[in-house]
This record gives sequence, C-alpha cells and structure tokens, in this order.
Amino acid sequence: MTDGAARIVGIGGSTSAASVTNLLLRACLDECAALGAQTVAFTGAQLAALPIYDANGDVPAAAATALVAAVRAADAVVIATPGYHGGMSGLVKNAIDHLELLRDDEHPYLDGRAVGVIVAASGWQACGTTLVSVRSAIHSLRGWPTPFGVTVNSAERHPEADGSFDERTAGALHILATQLRDFTAWRAAARATSAR
Ligand SMILES: Cc1cc2nc3c(=O)[nH]c(=O)nc-3n(C[C@H](O)[C@H](O)[C@H](O)COP(=O)(O)O)c2cc1C
Repeated sequence: MTDGAARIVGIGGSTSAASVTNLLLRACLDECAALGAQTVAFTGAQLAALPIYDANGDVPAAAATALVAAVRAADAVVIATPGYHGGMSGLVKNAIDHLELLRDDEHPYLDGRAVGVIVAASGWQACGTTLVSVRSAIHSLRGWPTPFGVTVNSAERHPEADGSFDERTAGALHILATQLRDFTAWRAAARATSAR
C-alpha cells in the first residue's frame, strides 16, 4: 500500500465459458476497485496455462511469473473456486501451489495478507466444505481469511445476462470487499507503527 491504494489480486474461476466463479471474482474486484483498490485478476484461461506445479523448480514457469509477482506485491488476495467433489478445483489448487515460490520472501506465501474466498457450487454442502478447504489452504500459507466468505449455490442463483448478480449476492460481495479494505488499512497502519 505504498501510494495509498490497496493492491488486490484475484485468483480463480474455471475454464467454463459461462463460469459463475469468474463472474463472481470480477464482480468482487469491481467492488474492491470502487472502494479505492488497484486490482488484477488471474482467471480460468490464464490459470489453465500454468503447468502442474513442479516441486523441484525454484523459478516460476513462464506462465506463472506474472501471478507470482502480483501476489508478492499484493496487500490482499481473493480466491474464487467452483466446488469440485467437495473441495476446490484442481485448476485453483494448482495456482495456489505456485505460491510455494514465495516461500523465501520477507513475507512468505500469503503472510500479512487478507484473503477473501468465493465459492460457487451446485449444492450447499459443497459450498460449505469447499469454503473450509480453501480457508485451510490459506491458513497453511499464513494468510488471514476474512471472517466473511461468499458462497453461491449456482443451481439456485444465476448471473444476469450482463454478468451482474442478484441483490443478495451483490451485497455479500460488497461485505467481502469491505472486509478486505478494512484489513488492508489496519495492516498498513500496524506495519507503519511496528516497522514490519
Ligand atoms: C468436476 C466437477 C465436480 C463438481 N463437484 C460438485 C460437488 O461436489 N458438489 C456440488 O455442489 N457441485 C459440484 N459441481 C458443480 C459446480 O460446483 C458448479 O457447477 C459450479 O457453479 C461451477 O463453477 P463455474 O461455473 O465457475 O465453472 C461439480 C462440477 C464439476 C465440473
């Protein structure tokens, strides 16, 4: 937050042409931008270009360079995933696995960053279990999951033709964006006083 604007990176979505999670991520980042953040997104097609993370590699694959650099510079992250078989999709998990390349940073992995989670699944059970699985990964990466997570049952709630969402879903995305903004501001203030 060097110039006052929070830098928020969105990661997620699916390769589906009508991906609900892509749209939810876009809508959330738009909310963040409306609250003053600078945003960048890595969504379905970009994530599909990533190789399976190679645990023996110490440098990012070319397709991962921008993702790793963006997260390194980020104040906060939003992870949006479909629920696949009760957990996050392999596409999203592979992107998260690439954050291993941040392990030797001053602030490794997701350290010091608020992380919002968005899940779309065609049933409520997978909404809940997937939310928990993503939060577990965030904890492993030393990130700070926001108290509020957004879960959307995509069998019940559909995006409009223009990609927008119903009032309830839009309201949930607004709460998430607000929590990301607030945490980022608190964290910046704490760093300023503690020099960490
Ligand atoms: C491989 C696969 C596994 C899925 N597993 C579940 C599941 O366990 N529970 C569930 O409620 N929905 C499941 N779904 C449905 C998706 O979560 C749902 O369609 C979601 O909205 C897809 O997100 P997207 O539109 O961003 O691709 C699955 C879909 C696929 C393709």
